[in-house]
Amino acid sequence: MGENDYLPLFETRVAKGRLLYWLYALSMLIGIALICVYRVKHFPPNEQLKTWAWTGLFMAELWYISYWLVTQLVRFNPVYRSTFKDRLSHRYEEVLPGIDIFVCTADAELEPPVMVINTVLSLMAYDYPPEKLNVYLSDDGGSELMFYALLEATRFSKLWLPFCRKFNIEPRAPSVYFSSIVKTHDIDVSLAKERQYIKVKQYEEMNERINENMNLGRIPDELRKQHKGFREWESNASRSNHQTILQILIDGRDPNAVDTEGKPLPTLVYLAREKRPGYHHNFKAGAMNALIRVSSRISNSPIILNVDCDQYSNNSESVRDALCFFMDDEQSHNIAYIQYPQYFDNITKNDLYGNYFRVVNEVELPGIDANGGPLYIGSGCFHRRDILCGKIYERESMINWKKGNGIRVKESANLLEETGKILAGCSYEENSPWGKEMGLKYGCPVEDVITGFSIKCRGWRSICFNPKKRGFLGVAPTTLLQSLIQHTRWSGGQFQIFLSKYCPFIYGYGKIPLKLQISYIIYNLWAANCVATLFYVVIPSFCLLKGIILFPQLSSPWVLPFTYVFTVKYAYSLYEFLWFEGTLKGWYNDQRMWLYKRMTSYLYGFFGTIMRSLGFAKLNFVITSKIADYDVSRRFEQEIMEFGADSSMFIIIIATIGLFNLFTFIWISERVIINRQSVDLDSYALQIILNGLLVIINIPVFQGLFLRKDKGCIPSSVTIESLILAATVCLLALY
Ligand SMILES: *[C@@H]1O[C@H](CO)[C@@H](O)[C@H](O)[C@H]1NC(C)=O
Ligand SMILES: *[C@@H]1O[C@H](CO)[C@@H](O)[C@H](O)[C@H]1NC(C)=O
Repeated sequence: MGENDYLPLFETRVAKGRLLYWLYALSMLIGIALICVYRVKHFPPNEQLKTWAWTGLFMAELWYISYWLVTQLVRFNPVYRSTFKDRLSHRYEEVLPGIDIFVCTADAELEPPVMVINTVLSLMAYDYPPEKLNVYLSDDGGSELMFYALLEATRFSKLWLPFCRKFNIEPRAPSVYFSSIVKTHDIDVSLAKERQYIKVKQYEEMNERINENMNLGRIPDELRKQHKGFREWESNASRSNHQTILQILIDGRDPNAVDTEGKPLPTLVYLAREKRPGYHHNFKAGAMNALIRVSSRISNSPIILNVDCDQYSNNSESVRDALCFFMDDEQSHNIAYIQYPQYFDNITKNDLYGNYFRVVNEVELPGIDANGGPLYIGSGCFHRRDILCGKIYERESMINWKKGNGIRVKESANLLEETGKILAGCSYEENSPWGKEMGLKYGCPVEDVITGFSIKCRGWRSICFNPKKRGFLGVAPTTLLQSLIQHTRWSGGQFQIFLSKYCPFIYGYGKIPLKLQISYIIYNLWAANCVATLFYVVIPSFCLLKGIILFPQLSSPWVLPFTYVFTVKYAYSLYEFLWFEGTLKGWYNDQRMWLYKRMTSYLYGFFGTIMRSLGFAKLNFVITSKIADYDVSRRFEQEIMEFGADSSMFIIIIATIGLFNLFTFIWISERVIINRQSVDLDSYALQIILNGLLVIINIPVFQGLFLRKDKGCIPSSVTIESLILAATVCLLALY
């Protein structure tokens, strides 16, 4: 084969079986049209309550129909990518570019240092020339305990990296690896021996030391003497008031920085940017921008990978995969970032809290990829540095990789630390384009999404890469409330984009294709789903109690489009779910979570964001805890719903609506079965079925209210409040 024969570094496959899909979509469209005809034709003009309920229901249906139509756009033509790493290695092994890896952590209490260093170690152990890897930990908590843990990780990496290389083990996060081997018997005696030593004598003892100091809450003096870095913590330094702390723990250029086999180590840097009262620190976006600047001084690699501190690397080849997309001669010229979908380690079989995002990750993101590229979701994403810093697309913007990239600074580590500090100072960004035209954007809870969006508006595209062996695995929320709170932030932030000047239709107009604008809208309008859903879960049951008929009679042909659309939509959703290796119960759980998110998270996200844009409230940012106590973990593993000990508005809403539907169901069943009263079943059938389905989906809530006695059940104050509320609504309807 000649020098000039072009072989691509990656290929793109289009999903199969689309014709069948379009038949399904077409039949749905017909059903939907018929529903609309029915609603208009049978509109009750002057019947007070019925007119209102009918109109509301029709509006809710119209909302769902529009939303469904929009989601079809990302199912239009999903694409799937695969890479050829052998070709990459063959062509570029000698000139592979440097990679700067940013890990962000914000709180040593909620994000335990042992977890953070596991992530760091898994990233340092990538199958990639170590002298070209640079790992930066940004600690917004400014905690010397975190610094200490990283120092321990520095020592441990000297053993861990050669061990990973020698036995080619996977995954390379020590705790995950060690807990996975309990299940396997291996034949390799030398591996077993070495592993035992590293695990027991090194890893576990290290964890003990770290946790001891965590419990102590500070670093003892004799440890402080071991590294000059501790001197950076002045006696009065606190979380929100301290100078910049920048320490190069491993200097990859230093010939003495080698592992036990004499091979070079990746550069490892600790950064806690300056915090002062009165300066807004802009959360994670601010941390990322400080990292971009500081790293430009130290390693300045052309590729940046950004991961959250709980997202360890589960695939040591991810860097090489990503480079296949950046370094292809013909297809790479407009690619700005490679986004890996977010997956979690902590998922139980039936995924009680719907954390897996099966359909979003496996169907929607590949669909958006085809429309112009997935959203940047803030973790598990490889960026080109120049583009992240604001470069505008032009035809000749390919980097010449053959030239060798990344400057090697000659200055000493000490000097780099001193000069780098200024770049992470509070006042550095004043009157600068950072947070606006450069780096990550400020002012929104989902700043990453806006950043990715504006990159595309500058003419670039992005890629979704989703290998079977996942690139990154994080820690999923383990209680209902945590999950709902996380979604409040996501959906609220997304909705804020819609209301801001970054609204895809306005900001993206003329810059990105319409289909990509609409793809963004799907997520921007997550929160807005709350109104239609709340209407649909309350009003039909309410009208059932009042004796108002809202759906066609069972004997009328109009019942067909309703039942068709409903059954086929859910059958298809079940099929999609099972196709991607879900379980039936998992699907049932997933449907429940979507319902609860819409009833609570989205409600708060929606109205909270509206209030905020009217100036009533300020932006706040909640870190989801990555630790759970023993009881909670156990219930999580047994898939028992955790409602949390405190009374929360979210749980009250869920319990009240659940109970209200239950009361309605009991009332109607009693009339139908026991009293044998003449309920006009023909007319009420659909309403009763809907009500019955709402009771079935809420079974875990009823268990939490009445049957369970453990600590995770619904607190009695919530039970009483929701009982009273639900009973009041019932009485209101009946009398
Ligand atoms: C994580 O990596 C391990 C080891 O290679 C693999 O067996 C496992 O399937 C991966 N997990 C996921 C979710 O891809
Ligand atoms: C995550 O799952 C693992 C294994 O199932 C468990 O040991 C750990 O405690 C879980 N983490 C949390 C935060 O629940």
